[in-house]
Amino acid sequence: VTTYYSPWRWNPIRGEYEPDVEQVGHGRGEFSAIDQFRNGSLLLSGATGFVGKVLLAALLHHFPELKRVVVLVRRRRFATAEQRFFSEVLDSPPLRAIRDQLGEDGIRRKVVVVEGDLGEPLCGLTAERLTEFRGRIDVVINAAGLVEFDPPLDESLATNVYGVRHVIELAERLGAKLVHVSTCYVAGKRTGRISEDLSVAGYYPLRRDADDDAFDVDAELRWCEARVARATAGGTRRDRRVREELREAGMTRAEHWGWINTYTYTKSMGEQLITRTPGLEYCIVRPAIVESALRFPLPGWNEGLTTSAPLVLMIGDGLKNWPVRKDGALEVIPVDLVATGILTAVAATLAGRNAPVYHLATAAENPLLPPRLVAFGGMRARFKHKHRRDGNKLANLWRAYVEARTVTVEQLAARRARLHRGLDLIHAVLNLLKALFGHRLVGPYLKSLRATRRHIRQQEQTVDKFLPFMFHNDFVFETRNIRAAWDMLTDADRERLVWDPERIDWADYWVNIHTKGIERWIRPRQAKVEDS
Ligand SMILES: NC(=O)c1ccc[n+]([C@@H]2O[C@H](COP(=O)([O-])OP(=O)(O)OC[C@H]3O[C@@H](n4cnc5c(N)ncnc54)[C@H](OP(=O)(O)O)[C@@H]3O)[C@@H](O)[C@H]2O)c1
Repeated sequence: VTTYYSPWRWNPIRGEYEPDVEQVGHGRGEFSAIDQFRNGSLLLSGATGFVGKVLLAALLHHFPELKRVVVLVRRRRFATAEQRFFSEVLDSPPLRAIRDQLGEDGIRRKVVVVEGDLGEPLCGLTAERLTEFRGRIDVVINAAGLVEFDPPLDESLATNVYGVRHVIELAERLGAKLVHVSTCYVAGKRTGRISEDLSVAGYYPLRRDADDDAFDVDAELRWCEARVARATAGGTRRDRRVREELREAGMTRAEHWGWINTYTYTKSMGEQLITRTPGLEYCIVRPAIVESALRFPLPGWNEGLTTSAPLVLMIGDGLKNWPVRKDGALEVIPVDLVATGILTAVAATLAGRNAPVYHLATAAENPLLPPRLVAFGGMRARFKHKHRRDGNKLANLWRAYVEARTVTVEQLAARRARLHRGLDLIHAVLNLLKALFGHRLVGPYLKSLRATRRHIRQQEQTVDKFLPFMFHNDFVFETRNIRAAWDMLTDADRERLVWDPERIDWADYWVNIHTKGIERWIRPRQAKVEDS
């Protein structure tokens, strides 16, 4: 149980956290989220994902007044949308409590599962469903996205751009408003404070000013289509070479405009399609890097490797050299605060009191400095390896007593070069010994050296993927709009939707909640994948 100072208190009778009204403070009551959700009907995509599950759990838990949530899920080869919803979503830890509370029948009365895919026009909804829902959905919440940083360009476009186009069409056809989940990192390579007021249409990170019209989303999509057609002309679609070529093409094009990867480049284009749709009532919610839950549905809940999980596991396993900025903050946010932020934005949109863009981030109010993370992670690794009884004793001693440290990118490159030279030397010696004494004696050592090198290369690639967040960029996302929306709520709303990034005790959160959450929820899954 965490000692975290929180506006929620533990109710031992109900067995759950509840808001401590004294600490939540007073809202201005300019609109009421509870009233906006009362008898409302929402359509949610992305409910099988990390953010989507917590969002759905928060929606059902905090707003029993809701009439209906339509959940759009794609079918898999061997599972219908309905089967996926009941096994992957309802049976998952974030939703178990609400499932037990409402029962399966209660859930069926409130939640309608429809099969759909953002890759298809109108998200693949059947004509009957479209007729059934027309005029009866108040808001579409699009929490679906392809979160991989450097997938083949066409795959990223399919969900993050064309998928958004299909969501827009769907919202228009249903006569619904749209709340779209994007990412703060659409800002790209910039420094300083990133405003929520930057114009979305025509945006690209290297844009000089609002008159700079070099980036046009239609022209850009034509370029992308031509590039994809060129790559796929010679080979079959799933050809490995074609995939690699398109992976490279996406990253190069993103960097050309100043984005850090294909993911943020395509997410930005998705946003641009929304803002230029005449008559569409929308808002765009941009979370920073989403991390383990602070308290809801349970402290430390996490899934997947889209968060900082790989890094947390690597530092826990004893990786020592960390290329992080000393003077900038790392923009992360717990997933339950993301759910709170999205629901606040949805309520504001329903009330017609929304801003166009909401950043959901923490550094503007409560910065988390990366060198502290290295210290927290190092402490945890020291503790873990000091008490380990298994594994190589010498390696455990090294992991327990050699400090994790911050380095510059140049220092890291020099250390890597030295390490690889050393490994080359050992490789050469082992090859020589193999020639002298034969494969049977030396082969196992060579095999283990190869495995070590593979492991090191994987670690290096992971660290490199996170360099834009940890080292290169020094920015703070402004979060005035979500604070303003939260201030407009009623006191009763604020008891359900607690927005309090300023109160996070990062040391306690990182060591006792986030790291333990990753070790509990992610490590066993990762171990299973590695074993198989
Ligand atoms: N995780 C982060 O750190 C982070 C940070 C900022 C913003 N975001 C944004 O938050 C949203 C959710 O992210 P997440 O972390 O929850 O990702 P996630 O765990 O990978 O979940 C992605 C969700 O999108 C769905 N999806 C993807 N392509 C789809 C398609 N063509 N049709 C229908 N559904 C599709 C997935 O469904 P399947 O189960 O069928 O694959 C899944 O439900 C994304 O828009 C992302 O850009 C995430």
